[in-house]
Amino acid sequence: MTALIAPSILSADFTRLAEAVRLAEQAGADLIHVDIMDGHFVPNLTLGPQLVAGVRRETRLPIDVHLMVENPRAFVPMFREAGADWISIHVEATAHLHKDLDLIRSSGGKAGAVLNPATPLVSLEEVLGDLDYVLLMSVDPGWGGQAFIPSCRPKIRRLRERIRAAGLEVRIEVDGGINLDNVEGLIREGMDIVVAGSAIFDAPDPAAAIRAFKDIARKTSP
Ligand code: DX5
Ligand code: ZN
Repeated sequence: MTALIAPSILSADFTRLAEAVRLAEQAGADLIHVDIMDGHFVPNLTLGPQLVAGVRRETRLPIDVHLMVENPRAFVPMFREAGADWISIHVEATAHLHKDLDLIRSSGGKAGAVLNPATPLVSLEEVLGDLDYVLLMSVDPGWGGQAFIPSCRPKIRRLRERIRAAGLEVRIEVDGGINLDNVEGLIREGMDIVVAGSAIFDAPDPAAAIRAFKDIARKTSP
């Protein structure tokens, strides 16, 4: 399965998001990754459902909402109504992961669970079959432009092996510090959704960067 490319608009110019989303779609992006931060779960603030509704009007691509918020359950219906297709919630932010994933799936969305770099894979053991995807953070969430944490690389392979052993088809999305130099190795470990923010939107030619990610994904994916 060819790895999907999900540009994170967190690193785009927030006063020109429509342009960034259209550019990403035209360059061949597969998903638009939208980072939602509440100033509690992570020490930063970003965007809300109104913005997602605006993005929805600009693109036909699936919108992948990464909720970095406390009490994520309260926000799931708003983001679904705003047009989010994929929604992921942090296991560190909820005591009722099973119920929250069910809320996303029963509303027709794709459900993902997110693990911070220090959170072990075992915390997903009881819900692996309830997931469409796992989002492995490879930086501590809160900002774009941070360096990839090396211990997250073997974690991708261990998760891929667990998913395979369980006979499941759960996708593995990885987020944080991914660039054109390390993406190939990460796809080989088992990543099949690539989130990239600064490597795309801080590049001199963001469309060319997306095309370069797509080329590597096509050549490297199993
Ligand atoms: C970080 C966000 C990421 C961020 C990635 O908290 O979840 O999606 O935009 O940015 P880069 O690719 O620059 O590390
Ligand atoms: Zn993200």
